[in-house]
Amino acid sequence: MNTNPSQNNRVLSGMRPTGKLHLGHLHGVLHNWLELQHTHECFFFVADWHALTTEYDNTQIISKSVTEMVVDWLSAGVSPSAATLFIQSHVPEHAELHLLLSMITPLGWLERVPTYKDQQEKLKGKDLATYGFLGYPLLQSADILAYKAGNVPVGEDQVAHVELTREVARRFNYIYGKESDFEEKAKLAISKMGKKNAKLYREHRKRFQEKGDPEALEVAQALLESQQNISIGDKERLFGYLEGEGKIILPEPQALLTKASKMPGLDGQKMSKSYNNTISLREEAELVEKKIRTMPTDPARVKRTDPGNPEKCPVWQFHEIYSSEDTRSWVKEGCTTAGIGCIECKQPVIDAVELELQPIRERAIEYLEDEATVQSIIKEGCEEARDVARDTLDDVREAIGLS
Ligand code: TRP
Ligand code: SF4
Repeated sequence: MNTNPSQNNRVLSGMRPTGKLHLGHLHGVLHNWLELQHTHECFFFVADWHALTTEYDNTQIISKSVTEMVVDWLSAGVSPSAATLFIQSHVPEHAELHLLLSMITPLGWLERVPTYKDQQEKLKGKDLATYGFLGYPLLQSADILAYKAGNVPVGEDQVAHVELTREVARRFNYIYGKESDFEEKAKLAISKMGKKNAKLYREHRKRFQEKGDPEALEVAQALLESQQNISIGDKERLFGYLEGEGKIILPEPQALLTKASKMPGLDGQKMSKSYNNTISLREEAELVEKKIRTMPTDPARVKRTDPGNPEKCPVWQFHEIYSSEDTRSWVKEGCTTAGIGCIECKQPVIDAVELELQPIRERAIEYLEDEATVQSIIKEGCEEARDVARDTLDDVREAIGLS
């Protein structure tokens, strides 16, 4: 297990700056972030180094997209007072931790991560047999562990990366969490909790270790959680001592699976830049209208009088996201009886997408006209993030013996 509940609540996630955000991002990742920012301590960052692993020969797209991406987040409603927004390359601790973790990461662990081969296969035109690309998931581990984040909202394809992070954290704790006098230090720390709490801790630890009772573990963790008199180092020791290992320096994170975005593209395939079927978050109203008007429909509806089947039509998938019951019955009825034409059918979708995008576009214009505000949000976020990451690196260096 090797978790440390005190950090469990922190959320960290990143996005690679490789182009404009679109409705797929909004309905997948961003809506999820908007909820999390009110319930958890959140760190969201622009993963520019990760973008560099594939765009090393096309860095313009990265530099162009970094600020744009933050503007998109803000315009979509990510709040700088609720979440810390920052840029990966402005927090060099990520790189230092990546390097240190690389020393204990077996090559095989990285070679076995499915995205390694998949992406090389998919991006055939690029040489991705690089050191940096192999290390992609380990850099991601460093991102997560630098904040001791307990929760990592990611899509299905990234779960393996969080899994790797757990293994690397476990190995780190196993190798560096063992102090020669660990047991003595743990016992001393217990006594600092006061008689009653020390007794409770010992009893529950015993019950967990002898009988594997998970409830006993939880009670003991909660007890530790509430202790005010003991240092953070002692707490880490006692979290580790509970499960019989060494000190827990890097807690294992969990993946918070983001439901796959149901947002289809204009052609009915998944919305994605590489399919050229997107509506961007800042798409002009006229272009939104034009793109939806020219969407393909059920091919059976050649003439206005030919009936169709919504199940065979990408426009219907938009209705499923944007339209009320009433509108949807109107579509079903009208389509299958040729009672309505496709242009008519598309109008409510055009209106709904426009209603969704208009406030985002307006906020984006405001932010773009006020570059200084955006820059100061980023600057503050980077400083906040760096403070946390610095503390972690202090712990890490000390555990390794580099301080
Ligand atoms: N690899 C992630 C993606 O492509 C982006 C990312 C980088 C990330 N570092 C992260 C996501 C840390 C979560 C946590 O989507
Ligand atoms: Fe698609 Fe609507 Fe045309 Fe039917 S009427 S084919 S659902 S656009």
